[in-house]
Amino acid sequence: MEIHIAADAEAGARTVADVVEQTLRETGELGTVLGLATGDSPVPAYTELIRRHREEGLSFAGSRAFLLDEYVGLPAGHDQSYHRFIREQLTSHVDIDDAAVLSPDGAAADPVAEAAAYDRRIGEAGGVDLQILGIGSNGHIAFNEPGSSLVSRTRVVALTPRTIEDNSRYFESPDEVPVRALTQGLGTILEARRIVLTASGEGKAAAVARLVEGSVSARWPATILQMHPEVLVVVDEAAASQLELADYYRYARDLEVEHAVAGQRV
Ligand code: GLP
Repeated sequence: MEIHIAADAEAGARTVADVVEQTLRETGELGTVLGLATGDSPVPAYTELIRRHREEGLSFAGSRAFLLDEYVGLPAGHDQSYHRFIREQLTSHVDIDDAAVLSPDGAAADPVAEAAAYDRRIGEAGGVDLQILGIGSNGHIAFNEPGSSLVSRTRVVALTPRTIEDNSRYFESPDEVPVRALTQGLGTILEARRIVLTASGEGKAAAVARLVEGSVSARWPATILQMHPEVLVVVDEAAASQLELADYYRYARDLEVEHAVAGQRV
């Protein structure tokens, strides 16, 4: 893993945006397949990408995007659907074809079949070049709650009371939060060629400490990312506050900058 403890939210957002920009430029005319996350964590990076598109001509033309997850029971147009969230926060503001921004259909008559079909669609697109991730306070990624199989595929899951509580801020009341979701599995996410996870705030500190330094376990699903060779973790000081080896990560990062070696890993 590469661990980047950012000085502030803007610096963290720039680091995430840099990786997206680099991936877009590398894949060029082949068209990048982006894996997009919802939630508050990646929003500053999305805002920075929109700025680069408007002011610096960064282009998403020819790219496709797959969302990580969607609530079961929310139609695409619902105010709180992730389908809508990603359009409001990123894709409608850049030059990506709207039809190329895919998410699981939360209103599908057969959510189990929809999950399998969505997993297949990702494979048919050639897989994800760059997956952006946030992390839940209980260590979930996408909606892979504690107890998820570490090789799970896209499927229907029951949300934990903690996730429902965490996500209720977007709804009028916790009662309105859907109790099930369609989510890419941990095995699906792990097939992305590169992964950038971003987190901020004290509420994420325990999950970030497990993610980077804990034992790989279904108890903290994000720990499976330790088994992926190309993961960048971008956190602020508060989210990094329970990392035992934070000083080492800072030292390694400074050394990387000093020696201009891109992609040094711990
Ligand atoms: C939701 C999403 C996750 C996201 C997590 C954290 O549960 N399914 O993809 O990472 O929330 O959200 P936030 O970034 O708002 O803290």
